[in-house]
Amino acid sequence: MENANISGGQIRRLYPADLPAFRDHLLRLDEESRHSRFGGAVSAAFLTNYAERCFGIDDVIYGYVVDNVLRGAGELRGLGHNLPLGFGGSAEAAFSVEREWRGRGVGTELMARIVRAARNRRADTLYMSCLTSNQAMIAIARKFSAQLRREPDEAFASLEPRGPTPSTLFDEATDDFSGFATAMLDLQKRSFARAKAR
Ligand SMILES: CC(C)(COP(=O)(O)OP(=O)(O)OC[C@H]1O[C@@H](n2cnc3c(N)ncnc32)[C@H](O)[C@@H]1OP(=O)(O)O)[C@@H](O)C(=O)NCCC(=O)NCCS
Repeated sequence: MENANISGGQIRRLYPADLPAFRDHLLRLDEESRHSRFGGAVSAAFLTNYAERCFGIDDVIYGYVVDNVLRGAGELRGLGHNLPLGFGGSAEAAFSVEREWRGRGVGTELMARIVRAARNRRADTLYMSCLTSNQAMIAIARKFSAQLRREPDEAFASLEPRGPTPSTLFDEATDDFSGFATAMLDLQKRSFARAKAR
């Protein structure tokens, strides 16, 4: 799972310094994708506000980065309990991949990391929801043996991540270590580009 290279891009953990890139990724989603991701029409102001609340201490976000631009994201956060995710409870996941980058396995790779993160944080259930017409998201949920419940407009997927093992903990730590190094390089490149543009 480490350092997956998909169509010239890499998947890595996102950090607070990635907030502007995450916001810009959400803002690039077209109307239909925003509807699929958030279950309704959402404005640019909503997305900007949402991105600003996404890097809490308990949130885990992985991103798909191509040429220093974030093209996809998988988000994990605790659900309806006041304890940090590492203390169990349930969690929810959500995904977004920009249209031109779909169908290359990015969503599946992001899901694999989110499931591993949920597992390592001892989440008892991982929930996802999407529109009933969202075949791609349903296909991804099926790949991870999630249980599916369909209602007229919405589909709900849930899976019970097994607990952590030394191997899943080690994998996440090494993945995040190399991801952190790449994040710092990305930050430097962005700073140089900004300084050059001035
Ligand atoms: C859902 C989403 C994240 C999938 O991203 P992706 O990078 O295209 O996912 P993958 O490339 O890993 O493809 C997932 C699977 O869906 C399948 N798939 C895609 N479109 C499909 C369709 N119309 N019918 C059936 N299966 C479909 C793919 O074949 C693939 O399965 P495979 O690997 O067995 O071939 C992306 O479509 C997206 O961002 N949509 C908008 C936001 C959204 O809907 N988020 C989900 C709700 S939170």
